[in-house]
Amino acid sequence: MKIGIVTGGGDCPGLNAVIRAVAKAATKRGWETLGIIGSFQGLLPPQNYRVLDYKALDGLLVRGGTILGTANRGIFSVKTGHGQTRQLPESLLAETRRGMETLGLSALVAVGGDGTLTIAHQMHQFGIPIVGVPKTIDNDLAATAVTFGFDSAVACATDALDRLHTTAESHGRVMVLEVMGRYAGWIAICAGIAGGADVILIPEIPFRYESICAAIAERERIGKHFTLVTVAEGARPVGGDYVSAGGDTAQREARLGGIGAVVASEIEKRTGKETRVVVLGHLQRGGSPTNMDRVLCTLFGAKAVDLIAQGRFGEMVTHTGTSVESVPLSEAVSRLRTVPPDGAFVQAARALGISLGD
Ligand code: F6P
Repeated sequence: MKIGIVTGGGDCPGLNAVIRAVAKAATKRGWETLGIIGSFQGLLPPQNYRVLDYKALDGLLVRGGTILGTANRGIFSVKTGHGQTRQLPESLLAETRRGMETLGLSALVAVGGDGTLTIAHQMHQFGIPIVGVPKTIDNDLAATAVTFGFDSAVACATDALDRLHTTAESHGRVMVLEVMGRYAGWIAICAGIAGGADVILIPEIPFRYESICAAIAERERIGKHFTLVTVAEGARPVGGDYVSAGGDTAQREARLGGIGAVVASEIEKRTGKETRVVVLGHLQRGGSPTNMDRVLCTLFGAKAVDLIAQGRFGEMVTHTGTSVESVPLSEAVSRLRTVPPDGAFVQAARALGISLGD
């Protein structure tokens, strides 16, 4: 038996650890694994792949990115806007299936976020034997308690806040850190809490500049002359729109980014306090996965192979919070998981006096 593995969407720490886990678990069963290069495109002629034998897996557990390459644009792209998707043409799905047959693949593991898993779902509906593994630093997939990559991104953002803390304090400045997460505030709220931010702005809770400035003024009053603000790239003021870094076309989702600079300039204007902004950007997606992500990737990869062995195609590996299970891909892509505005994370932040900007 021969299986294939594809990595799709934005990269993140842990993709290689999943590749390793899948290939090792498959080898254990006597199967061969082919790593498809360049995401699903690698299945089309001329097929582009590499054999994932034991030698090919050296060092993969700790290596960032994906040795297979990835894509979040191109002919397989299904996300056309916020919450909008398109159906892949039958001709493309048929060509993909032919590609798998040419390579002798009995099944495919698709590792990705909502875009890649939507592609996987459409492939499953077309009859392609496929299972999914949930990846994204945004942690915004509703069908799993956690996605891999998230913990590593939060670790990076927390480290950035720790570093900003000392310089903010030394200069008595406001430091604004913009983090990723698309339309979900998970990275912002978790890193904000872990890094001791004083203000956390998330897409789920539209903010008011008056509230942010009031929080800064209150800190001044109690003798704290610096403030750390964590802002999610998808945060927006009450009645305002998302700030986009460009790339809005009918064919692709908007690229968010830039809200940090807007917030910083408004704070400086309103409070007169020197304010600086740092956009963490793709640093959050680079480097080695954290211990927790390495474990999660290993559990997920092993489970994906198990699903294939059981013939449970059209399912995605999921973490329930206590165990690793699976759900239908249809469920995995049906809705995004955002931060509940009255949930435990927000409540804990408020209990500590952290401003959510509302
Ligand atoms: O979905 C992961 C993510 O890093 C988002 O947090 C971010 O908005 C987006 O991808 C950036 O995409 P790109 O790599 O195309 O700039």
